[in-house]
Amino acid sequence: MGFHARHGSARVGFETRLDWSLDREIGIFPTRPRVRVGHETSMDDEQIACFNRAQSQRFDELHRRFLEPLPADVIERMERIVAAPEIRPGETVLDVGTGTGALVPLIRRYRPGRVIACDLSANMLEQVARLHPDVERHRVDIRDLELPRTSVDVVFMNGMFGNIADKQGALANVGRMLRSGGRVVISHPEGRRFVAGIARADPFPITPLPSPEQAEALLRAAGLAVRDYIDEEKLLICLAIKA
Ligand SMILES: C[S@@+](CC[C@H](N)C(=O)[O-])C[C@H]1O[C@@H](n2cnc3c(N)ncnc32)[C@H](O)[C@@H]1O
Repeated sequence: MGFHARHGSARVGFETRLDWSLDREIGIFPTRPRVRVGHETSMDDEQIACFNRAQSQRFDELHRRFLEPLPADVIERMERIVAAPEIRPGETVLDVGTGTGALVPLIRRYRPGRVIACDLSANMLEQVARLHPDVERHRVDIRDLELPRTSVDVVFMNGMFGNIADKQGALANVGRMLRSGGRVVISHPEGRRFVAGIARADPFPITPLPSPEQAEALLRAAGLAVRDYIDEEKLLICLAIKA
């Protein structure tokens, strides 16, 4: 099964207030006239918490789909994603929005010292615990993950960047946790057009992936410099380094 089927058509019951605020802030409901190209949010903490509840509810519902085997071409693209930051043996790797841990076996090939998973969905993290018991798990918005400053070498944000409510806050925290010379990869194994399609077709809150200019601006604000931006029909890999 591909990513298409994984995202599925499950609907979450949003609170009326959330519907209204998402429509106002990022144009999700009902006709999305105002998608914010800069990826900044003006949602307050309560609205972000509401947005995150919608995320965890949806991915709690969908978690079984993420256990089904991926087609070979998707795995090949995920291998390219995991190869991008050139993980060195012993490094600490943080997988953000890890889901059921699809990247974990690919990350392991590089013999990291420590693998850390962060996700909002309890059901997803339960599967990580079952399948990869040695992976450290945190159920929290990446914006609020409290790992020590400069304690991480590599961060993956695969197939999930569009799902983050506060992208600037999330990257600021990633920049804080990364050591100097640390790398972050924002990626999607189905590419930007796929995510833009979901954002158009589905009332679920997800934003299109950043263009090169948007990625550069967002990452620069977090102290990260874009090194590579690979934008293929079915693959996005944006690699950035902390100065
Ligand atoms: C498409 S899924 C899984 C993607 C996974 N990386 C993979 O490659 O299969 C996206 C995941 O991101 C999680 N997520 C969404 N927003 C998040 C946030 N702000 N912080 C951490 N995880 C988040 C969701 O709960 C969901 O499990």
